[in-house]
Amino acid sequence: MGPEAITYHTDEAGYQWARFSPEQWLRELKVPPTLIPASWESWDWRSTESLPGIARALRWLRDSWTRETGYWSVLLTAPPGRGKSHLAVAKLRQFLSWYPARECAYVRWSQLLRDIKETWDGYGSEATLLEAVESSRFLVLDDLGSEAAEADPDSPQWIVQRVFSMLEVRHAHGLPVVITTNLDRRRITARYGARLVSRLREGEIIDLSPLPDHRVGGFHV
Ligand SMILES: Nc1ncnc2c1ncn2[C@@H]1O[C@H](COP(=O)(O)OP(=O)(O)OP(=O)(O)O)[C@@H](O)[C@H]1O
Ligand SMILES: [Mg+2]
Repeated sequence: MGPEAITYHTDEAGYQWARFSPEQWLRELKVPPTLIPASWESWDWRSTESLPGIARALRWLRDSWTRETGYWSVLLTAPPGRGKSHLAVAKLRQFLSWYPARECAYVRWSQLLRDIKETWDGYGSEATLLEAVESSRFLVLDDLGSEAAEADPDSPQWIVQRVFSMLEVRHAHGLPVVITTNLDRRRITARYGARLVSRLREGEIIDLSPLPDHRVGGFHV
């Protein structure tokens, strides 16, 4: 299948705007190619059949968190392959239908840190990078904590400060964010401090570790 055609519409002021499909917007927001098809429709609920607590939490995430509910954060925590990024992108698709797509943001944590470091060599400005993270109407922050090996409890101080200040700004303005991480609550506290975790606990924390590793393909029958 070739690339999808882009259609255009003209607004009242005579400007032409591209009318993107959700997939085109996800690509535009730099969602990794493997996650572009991720949606609630493509989520396989069979893995949650024997896990009613998780099924309930995920139905809440899908159905009850609207732009009006005012939840500021949902933290999805689990080891690799449990579907955290899939669920975060599924939620992003919903917000794309509520807000102008350019006001939503998808940020891969390791990429953001690389981009921040590049600004130290004079490439671009950190303020511009942080603008999307701090003030987008909806943010997916994918893979928080990926800067250090699982066994290494410490992150450099500059990273710790940035995690806190970015999320503190969003918290102060009640701006919604879905954060995915391999770290559990104890490790997040050890790495980024109790003040961040206290704010995250005002939102929802969903532990997906009982789910099977979907990359292993254990339940593809
Ligand atoms: N329940 C599910 N139904 C359908 N697809 C799933 C499900 N769980 C995971 N997947 C798919 O499996 C792949 C891995 O999932 P995903 O990338 O969301 O894992 P993750 O928890 O974010 O892992 P990591 O910590 O390594 O980032 C993705 O392609 C995702 O779409
Ligand atoms: Mg992921």
